[in-house]
Amino acid sequence: MISANDIRLKYLNFYKARNHAVIPSAPLVPENDPTVLYTTAGMHPLIPYLLGQPHPAGNRLVNVQKCVRTNDIDEVGDAFHHTFFEMLGHWSLGDYYKKEALAFTFELLTQVFEFDPQSLSVTCFAGDLDAPKDEESSSIWQSLGIPKDRIYFLPKEDNWWGPAGVTGPCGPDSEVFVDLTKKSCGPNCQPGCSCGRFCEVGNDVFMQYNKTSSGKYELLPKPNVDNGTGLERNLALINGFNDNYLTDLWQPAVKLLENITNREYSDNKREFRIVVDHLRAAIFIIADGVFPSNKERGYILRRLIRRAVLKLHLFVPDPLLPSLEVANVFIAQMSPVYPELNSQKDLIKKTLADEVGKFSKTLDRGLREFNKIKKLDGKAAFDLFQTFGFPWEITIEMAKQNKQTLNYQEFETEFKRHQQLSRTASVGMFKGGLQDQSEITTKYHTATHLLHKALRIVLGDHVQQKGSNITSERLRFDFSHSDKLTSLQTQKVEEIVNQKIIDNLTVSRAEQSKSQALSQGALAFFVEKYPDQVSVYTIGPEENWFSKELCGGPHVNSTGEIGGIKIIKEESAGAGIRRIYAQLTK
Ligand code: ALA
Repeated sequence: MISANDIRLKYLNFYKARNHAVIPSAPLVPENDPTVLYTTAGMHPLIPYLLGQPHPAGNRLVNVQKCVRTNDIDEVGDAFHHTFFEMLGHWSLGDYYKKEALAFTFELLTQVFEFDPQSLSVTCFAGDLDAPKDEESSSIWQSLGIPKDRIYFLPKEDNWWGPAGVTGPCGPDSEVFVDLTKKSCGPNCQPGCSCGRFCEVGNDVFMQYNKTSSGKYELLPKPNVDNGTGLERNLALINGFNDNYLTDLWQPAVKLLENITNREYSDNKREFRIVVDHLRAAIFIIADGVFPSNKERGYILRRLIRRAVLKLHLFVPDPLLPSLEVANVFIAQMSPVYPELNSQKDLIKKTLADEVGKFSKTLDRGLREFNKIKKLDGKAAFDLFQTFGFPWEITIEMAKQNKQTLNYQEFETEFKRHQQLSRTASVGMFKGGLQDQSEITTKYHTATHLLHKALRIVLGDHVQQKGSNITSERLRFDFSHSDKLTSLQTQKVEEIVNQKIIDNLTVSRAEQSKSQALSQGALAFFVEKYPDQVSVYTIGPEENWFSKELCGGPHVNSTGEIGGIKIIKEESAGAGIRRIYAQLTK
């Protein structure tokens, strides 16, 4: 059997031999693009470079990027979809274009992955008002040996990729499909057909546009190529499987589940797949600094864990140990490639155990309540969500199992009503973050930006602001980090902040578009609350800034005005969150 590692290496080596520099996988939490919750593609961490900034490793790059996509979470349970997956990807940043890119892709797929060229079909962009029909790719494919009758032109919904968030680089793409069955389901059976005949094995995106916040497609200074090649499905097909879960990436966990539950995978495919897929995603997400919560990233993590628990509960009375055992298998198996799994092992297990434990407790009660419900309407579904922590998706699934239907609109109305209430509350909190805009609190506010950046330097980029509160006596800063800071770490953080104060860096404010600010690397929190035009505070010279954050201010004009700070206390502020108190020294 060809292993996942063989494929990772084959792909990297193929592009290395063609002068691509290997870059590491970025974290799952996008560092510079809060318009999306998770890194969904290899291009994501490269957005500034696709927009024209030079990349330090050059203009040909390759990597294996860990990704999370939850937009098609409902598809998970079939043979090919996952929430967490690894994307093999390579890029030309304004270097080669369509001709070389498609030739590379064809050579890789037919010579290295050894797909039969006869089984390949391709798609190209059909053209619309934003961009012309991609005849060029079609003729390149023909020159490579793909006959015209296996080249399909499809519209934007199928053959356009990006932007990953709301704005940013994007363009027409050309996708390659393997014909799995050679059996047509009807006259319109072609790549993209839902019958499952065709499986996409590679995608070359010709990123030549930047979608702006007004929805316009502007030409980029130089066109790029962004390739994505899904590891899991290529691995399966190369091994002759029509099911990703039969590969070495999944078999250890699947076998373990068979032992724990005393059931066969072949009789319980959908449930087994959801359990292993979701738990694998959960451990990777936790390793990158996310904790279960009711908001955004944390909520996605919570949903993944709870869904896995719900499925496990069908087979075992207490899902706690089985979840941990599955997690252990993935940690051991994948940490040689992703060492963060090993270094965050204790945090992963603790976080998982807490969440599984909590949810299991309410599950029995929730199921009893669910069974009592006579009329399962949106309000009842929302109550289940509110009171018993049942995500809507789980209620829907249970309803389906019981052949009941549910009115989503009613649920949504309830949900929105609730959201509005909590939004009002959190805006209140946000305002309360800066209670008194006196000279002293202004100093504290700038010190908070310095502190945030210093923590990221000392502890790592998983550090994210979780809360901030300033009085005229002190600043308080909450951030994601699992362990207590050592005295050396605290000392280093303090030193960095004080050095930047001594350096007397300029603090400047600029109004710019949110997308521009984010693409420059500005940090932002509560991104949904920011308008399209934002205020950005930069500390340090523009060409070599120390900190950049979307922020309403106010701030001092230069860091020297702060005088100096001292960290007076460091403590836990909940699971995975640390809190620092600091005071001005002058
Ligand atoms: N960014 C492209 C994709 O995700 C390559 O398919």
